[in-house]
Amino acid sequence: MLASLEAMALVLVAGAWRGSLAAADGKSQKAPETVEVSIIDDVFTLQWNGSQESVGNVTYSADYATSEMDNWIKLPGCQHITGSKCDFFPLINFYEEIKFRVRAEEENSTSSWYYVDPFIPFQKARLGPPEVRLEAEDKAVIIYLFRPGKRDGTSIWDMDALSFEFSLVFWENSSHGEEQEIKTNFYISKMYDLSTETTYCLKAKARLSWKVSAYSPVYCINTTAEHKLLPPENVTFGARNQSYVLTWEYRDVNVTFRAQWLHAFSKLTPWDNSNEWKQIPNCENVRTTYCVFPQSVFQKKEYYFRVQASDGNDTSFWSKEKAVQTEMYSTILPPVVSMKSTNDSLHVFVKAPKKQFDTFTYEIILWENASHTERKLVSKRSDIIIPGLKPLTPYCIKARVLLQDKWNKTSVFSAVVCEKTKPGAAASIPWVIPVIVILLLAVIAFCVMKLLWKCFNYVFFPVFKPPCSIEHFSEQPFGNLLLSTSEEQTEKCFIIENTQSVIIVEEPEETDEDYRKYSSQSSQDSGNYSNEDESLGNQISEALLQLKPQALSCPGELVLGLSSLGLHSS
Ligand SMILES: *[C@@H]1O[C@H](CO)[C@@H](O)[C@H](O)[C@H]1NC(C)=O
Ligand SMILES: *[C@@H]1O[C@H](CO)[C@@H](O)[C@H](O)[C@H]1NC(C)=O
Ligand SMILES: *[C@@H]1O[C@H](CO)[C@@H](O)[C@H](O)[C@H]1NC(C)=O
Ligand SMILES: *[C@@H]1O[C@H](CO)[C@@H](O)[C@H](O)[C@H]1NC(C)=O
Ligand SMILES: *[C@@H]1O[C@H](CO)[C@@H](O)[C@H](O)[C@H]1NC(C)=O
Ligand SMILES: *[C@@H]1O[C@H](CO)[C@@H](O)[C@H](O)[C@H]1NC(C)=O
Ligand SMILES: *[C@@H]1O[C@H](CO)[C@@H](O)[C@H](O)[C@H]1NC(C)=O
Ligand SMILES: *[C@@H]1O[C@H](CO)[C@@H](O)[C@H](O)[C@H]1NC(C)=O
Ligand SMILES: *[C@@H]1O[C@H](CO)[C@@H](O)[C@H](O)[C@H]1NC(C)=O
Ligand SMILES: *[C@@H]1O[C@H](CO)[C@@H](O)[C@H](O)[C@H]1NC(C)=O
Ligand SMILES: *[C@@H]1O[C@H](CO)[C@@H](O)[C@H](O)[C@H]1NC(C)=O
Ligand SMILES: *[C@@H]1O[C@H](CO)[C@@H](O)[C@H](O)[C@H]1NC(C)=O
Repeated sequence: MLASLEAMALVLVAGAWRGSLAAADGKSQKAPETVEVSIIDDVFTLQWNGSQESVGNVTYSADYATSEMDNWIKLPGCQHITGSKCDFFPLINFYEEIKFRVRAEEENSTSSWYYVDPFIPFQKARLGPPEVRLEAEDKAVIIYLFRPGKRDGTSIWDMDALSFEFSLVFWENSSHGEEQEIKTNFYISKMYDLSTETTYCLKAKARLSWKVSAYSPVYCINTTAEHKLLPPENVTFGARNQSYVLTWEYRDVNVTFRAQWLHAFSKLTPWDNSNEWKQIPNCENVRTTYCVFPQSVFQKKEYYFRVQASDGNDTSFWSKEKAVQTEMYSTILPPVVSMKSTNDSLHVFVKAPKKQFDTFTYEIILWENASHTERKLVSKRSDIIIPGLKPLTPYCIKARVLLQDKWNKTSVFSAVVCEKTKPGAAASIPWVIPVIVILLLAVIAFCVMKLLWKCFNYVFFPVFKPPCSIEHFSEQPFGNLLLSTSEEQTEKCFIIENTQSVIIVEEPEETDEDYRKYSSQSSQDSGNYSNEDESLGNQISEALLQLKPQALSCPGELVLGLSSLGLHSS
């Protein structure tokens, strides 16, 4: 950027070309030579070299035009100038190109114009040194800086008031060599821990990106005699619960205090902010060496805090200012946690109480209530499933908010929530077994009843039928019995070895051929029944062949429950 500016300055000089001799009214005038424009802060200066041969009362006049204008406009402050320079301040956009032309005039004759190459005023402008005002206390000096350029009305630096940096050199006049160099972008600074009744001096220069000013003149001030009432010391800032706490130290107990705050931003604005300090609520005329005030008073910004002591007749100087990024101290509320157990997992819900920040994660600590060995999870999600837990075991969790800011702050942990996991899939077996046993007993009882009924009929109402036989029942394989009874029911129900077979059966596009193939496959795979009990195998094959999707109306849990138990025909 600096290089390009220098290049531009060269072009400006090199591009200036000599105006030719011209006659407007018979008489000829020589045009001015090597016209240059310089800008320091808000002072624009047009400078030229008059022609030496010119005689009589020669004057010079300049016009200007910006890229937005069609016509040349007479430059105010630069008309009929007898000397070789003029100062002016154009009310234009300083970020747009401007061009100038100058000519010599004498009575009715004028020279031709000398054209200055166009340039952007802001780029060409140089910085002047800042202005300084000093104010003394007994052991401190307050430095007020004023940015270069006009302070009233339009300035070329108006848009950049917040971008200035200042380099200060501060020293005690008597002790040479002990200079303190300070870089700041605040318009008000304060030097502390100085000696009383001593002369201190300061010079300053301003900087705006690549533009650097020269040093200002040296300003000096004497500190005052020691003030009786000392200012409070060691101001600290902290947070407790939902409040901020400002504390300080003071030797004398018989005084009252008041504390004030200021937006750090105020120090960046180029005017006197000494009256922008504000009283902290509940922190006026306090006798304690601390103040507690709600966090809601302050946003997440940088502030300055200061405290003053008063003994009724007299007030101290202000304490050293304490710079505070409230965000660093603000309390983060813990999340609210709830939990639901499913089969072998816990479904955890965490919720930050309100939107306190932008990027954060939850840290969840999980432990078995009995063991206290902790598992740590970090998640951005507010609902988390933690799988693979022991069934029927009480687990506890707590969670906190982790902020991903420059301080890595955390909230305190939430309340502990405990929950017992539900019986898992495997653990459900002990619950299913008695149900099945009861069902089987019911079926057996039903058959026995039926047989007894038949025998009863046979005894009391004999018909020509073979006698009922208990042996026949006892010879029946267990599974066959179950199947045969289910055959008698209106609802067709089949015990199928594996769920794969069920899926195959459900496929509606399958042809009978496929059914046959799959059923024979499945009967081979699970040879338990197909080989040992031929009739049952045939029955199942037959059933599979008959199966239609809508025929699968048997309660799924029973089929699956039985198959998972290995309760098939074998
Ligand atoms: C005017 O001329 C003198 C010598 O003739 C030269 O030193 C000076 O730089 C010139 N000024 C400008 C503005 O060109
Ligand atoms: C220049 O102007 C003054 C008055 O402004 C006049 O007295 C003088 O005669 C003029 N000189 C010439 C050479 O015109
Ligand atoms: C300038 O022009 C005016 C009329 O426009 C005339 O009266 C005067 O004599 C002229 N002066 C010279 C020096 O030519
Ligand atoms: C600074 O000190 C010098 C001698 O060391 C003295 O001459 C000068 O007056 C002092 N300046 C001020 C402003 O006191
Ligand atoms: C500071 O005090 C000394 C005397 O102690 C005096 O000579 C000097 O002028 C004072 N300087 C200023 C800037 O007031
Ligand atoms: C913070 O809260 C606790 C209990 O909630 C209370 O005992 C304590 O006094 C509070 N502290 C402040 C500074 O408010
Ligand atoms: C402030 O802190 C310093 C260092 O810890 C200590 O020496 C000084 O006595 C404290 N000031 C007060 C008024 O207690
Ligand atoms: C504190 O001030 C009270 C009056 O406000 C006075 O009676 C008392 O003596 C003072 N104590 C000290 C130690 O100065
Ligand atoms: C305050 O001033 C009054 C009279 O002006 C005086 O009597 C009193 O002692 C002073 N108090 C203190 C603490 O200096
Ligand atoms: C039980 O767990 C299985 C897998 O682990 C899952 O697919 C199923 O949805 C769970 N059941 C419930 C009620 O959460
Ligand atoms: C967790 O364990 C403690 C004893 O260590 C017991 O008092 C408490 O009831 C248990 N909580 C749950 C949810 O099981
Ligand atoms: C915050 O955490 C990140 C990553 O965990 C780490 O790189 C960084 O140094 C931490 N910052 C502070 C101030 O602890």
